[in-house]
Amino acid sequence: MQDQIRTVAVIGCGVIGASWTCLFLSRGLNVLIYDPAEGIRESFEEYLQVAWPALAASGSVEDVLAKNYKFIDNLESSLSEADFVQENGPERPEFKQALMETLDRYTRPGVVISSSSSGLPASGFVGRCQKDPSRILVGHPFNPPHLVPLVEVVPHPGTNTTTIRTAQEFYRSLGKKPILLRREVPGFVANRLQAAINSEAYSLISRGIVSAEDLDRAVTSGPGLRWALAGPFVMNSLGGGGGPNGFTQRIERLGPAIRGWEEDMLKHRFDWSEESVSVLKKEALKWLESLDWEGYNRKRDQMLVRLLELDSGTSSP
Ligand SMILES: NC(=O)c1ccc[n+]([C@@H]2O[C@H](COP(=O)([O-])OP(=O)(O)OC[C@H]3O[C@@H](n4cnc5c(N)ncnc54)[C@H](O)[C@@H]3O)[C@@H](O)[C@H]2O)c1
Repeated sequence: MQDQIRTVAVIGCGVIGASWTCLFLSRGLNVLIYDPAEGIRESFEEYLQVAWPALAASGSVEDVLAKNYKFIDNLESSLSEADFVQENGPERPEFKQALMETLDRYTRPGVVISSSSSGLPASGFVGRCQKDPSRILVGHPFNPPHLVPLVEVVPHPGTNTTTIRTAQEFYRSLGKKPILLRREVPGFVANRLQAAINSEAYSLISRGIVSAEDLDRAVTSGPGLRWALAGPFVMNSLGGGGGPNGFTQRIERLGPAIRGWEEDMLKHRFDWSEESVSVLKKEALKWLESLDWEGYNRKRDQMLVRLLELDSGTSSP
């Protein structure tokens, strides 16, 4: 089924839609782009200039492929050309409900419509679809989708199995690593994990325990380095002596102590009060305004390409 996908419609070409488009182009697909924002063509071209060298560095990508996109002004007349739809409009339930209704109406039967939604489950925006909501699901990427392999595939209770399989196969064919959620939860998996870490980070900062700069370093010079190679289960296992029983050993040895930390964390959970948010913003700004943001996206892409190269050379899980 995924072999028949030659043309992808990218709906919404902001941060995420632009990056998806670059990936689709680099894999030889034709892309139709719909986004009503003024100046969108220029901003996409700028994005492409930065993203393409990173894509070229991560595989043999012919420059001529970068031209295979077309901006469309009218969904009604153009959407029938699409073999797959990736939706990347603003993350607002009412907005996605209306947009999905339109996408469902004008897309050919059986064509998968996948939303990049960061945390809104599809059951919250398929309600108005008249034609076939069973071919709609979430395909949540991580920024930037043209380089970071993860996609969370999140069906709603009515999504059919062919849609789930086609989406997974399509994403794999692009070199991505899809994971499948068995049930919808707000924020899905990866963003819930990030939210848990962010919540503790915000608490530590607003309580004055550490600076924002040191907190970021606690991630990038510590667990973040390891997380690029292995997730919590493999890492926990290594901490417990390694191998299949390492996890159990770690839970038995450290479980009681960790429960004590968790109780303290819950007691001091970030409360989102005006006062706490104001301290948080002030502390974050002190750190962030000391940084050089010039060319940050380019540097990020170069680092990601190198990390991915290293990772592809290992047999880590
Ligand atoms: N930014 C991230 O890190 C990230 C990561 C993963 C997923 N997402 C999700 O991707 C989606 C897009 O996020 P983003 O960060 O690219 O937002 P963005 O604001 O950068 O882009 C949204 C784009 O949608 C366009 N748009 C507005 N109305 C539209 C319409 N009627 N039809 C088509 N396009 C329309 C806007 O002009 C804008 O260019 C959201 O659902 C978001 O949650 C974002």
